[in-house]
Amino acid sequence: MSLPDELLELAAETAREAGRMLVDKRPADGPDVVQTKSSPTDVVTQMDRSAEALIIERITAARPGDGFLGEEGGTRAGGSGVRWVIDPIDGTVNYLYDLPDWAVSIAAEVDGVAVAGAVEMPRRGETYTAVRGGGALLHTASGARELRVNSRVPLGEALVATGFGYAAERRARQARVLTGVLPAVRDIRRGGSCCVDLCSLAAGRVDAYYERGVQAWDVAAGALIVQEAGGRVEGLGGAPAGPELTIAAGPGTFEALHDVLASLDPLHD
Ligand code: IPD
Ligand code: CA
Ligand code: CA
Repeated sequence: MSLPDELLELAAETAREAGRMLVDKRPADGPDVVQTKSSPTDVVTQMDRSAEALIIERITAARPGDGFLGEEGGTRAGGSGVRWVIDPIDGTVNYLYDLPDWAVSIAAEVDGVAVAGAVEMPRRGETYTAVRGGGALLHTASGARELRVNSRVPLGEALVATGFGYAAERRARQARVLTGVLPAVRDIRRGGSCCVDLCSLAAGRVDAYYERGVQAWDVAAGALIVQEAGGRVEGLGGAPAGPELTIAAGPGTFEALHDVLASLDPLHD
């Protein structure tokens, strides 16, 4: 088995175990909020922390020399050239409210390049996986299918997913950009999880996604899944996708969305 295939197997198995734990151990009256981060609505629950700890423990047991970048602080340097990028719950607010669209996202990078990614959505019964150069798959109880983004959807007919940060000033700017995007597209979806949005794009359930402020742990696995499903994931003017701006769509749609966003001065806040 190649190294990326081995890393994917470990990512998918660990994401499934963490997903099961998050469903089984979620307190019936909701998880406790143990911390707020960038704003009072940017919450961390005890379950975010337990899931990240479980993921790091399992991966370290299998591969002791690897490094980590985990959203909840599980960050350490490794010596093997492999780094795991982890969002233990992407869509924490959905998880808090018991809405189904949240996911465990685990990507493996080799020398800084994402080579394998798994996104586990326990409440949908779906696991999304990709290996660089090997395509992207959706696994459900009825089997696995290859993923392909929708291509060349005219922007006016495109269903576009997006998200908003937690800070009020950032949101005010995002709302202003949205007023320019909304008349140019079929409609907007705000699902509440960046990696679910990216997987929905890979599965052809939305036609595009953009967001300002998303971090490496939000996008690492989902971006690889979109790329392996034939989509583009970039920033403005050919810059790499990143916290400044992440735009993702199939060829033909990407360029049109990019140009509308570029005209709206989305980086000014
Ligand atoms: C958030 C979700 C949300 C996005 C925010 C992210 P979290 O991650 O992905 O959809 O709009 O920008 O911070 O806090 O639930 O892990
Ligand atoms: Ca996240
Ligand atoms: Ca998170």
